[in-house]
Amino acid sequence: MPALSPSLSLPVLLSGVVKGPALLPIIQADTPAQAVNIAKALSEGGIGSVEVVLRTREALAGITAIRSALPQLLVGAGTILSASDATAAKNAGAQFLVSPASTPTLLEAMIDCGLPFAPGVATPSEIAMAFEYGLTEVKFFPAHLSGGIEMLKALSSIFQQVRFCPTGGIGQQNLADFLALPNVFVAGGSWLTPAAMVKAGQWQQISQLAATASAIANKLKAAA
Ligand code: 3PG
Repeated sequence: MPALSPSLSLPVLLSGVVKGPALLPIIQADTPAQAVNIAKALSEGGIGSVEVVLRTREALAGITAIRSALPQLLVGAGTILSASDATAAKNAGAQFLVSPASTPTLLEAMIDCGLPFAPGVATPSEIAMAFEYGLTEVKFFPAHLSGGIEMLKALSSIFQQVRFCPTGGIGQQNLADFLALPNVFVAGGSWLTPAAMVKAGQWQQISQLAATASAIANKLKAAA
């Protein structure tokens, strides 16, 4: 771990804390109440872990609200782009962090935070940088546009210790192919929470999508 500064100690691996099927659905909510409704629908479909993306004004309040309403869920924060995002997410009650990107500043801030996390990578050099920090679990984003399944297969022989959370372009149609890869520990994305269903309050339909995905994931990969 050459670049790891002595003041930083590595957090627990994200794979060690993910609950339920190996799925990380995204929650993008306009209000805390909407965040809770989405999370409840996902939970009823068998989901155990969710990622609330910091792309709306109320996202942090949504994390706090889900933690309080649904204590059985593991709740993380996504779209972490700065050290202050990481701190704010932790203060709001996030139990893990996900970022679409990797820079030395961002990696050090997330390590410093102490929460399990997955930094975003799309190239061998970014994986190598994360690995220099001792990080062996990363988000592969945008998975489909960055080479998808074939890229993950190619990376597996080079980065043998690294495991991936692919997101971006994953849906019911290719979920099984991603989860069948030995170097994939969890799959994430927005296909379980379509914006139109959220807007229309179609919670049962979201539960149904989640149940279908959970059945696929449970067959292929038991999360910790
Ligand atoms: C992410 O934040 O991981 C992406 O927005 C997920 O991409 P998707 O919308 O294609 O699932």
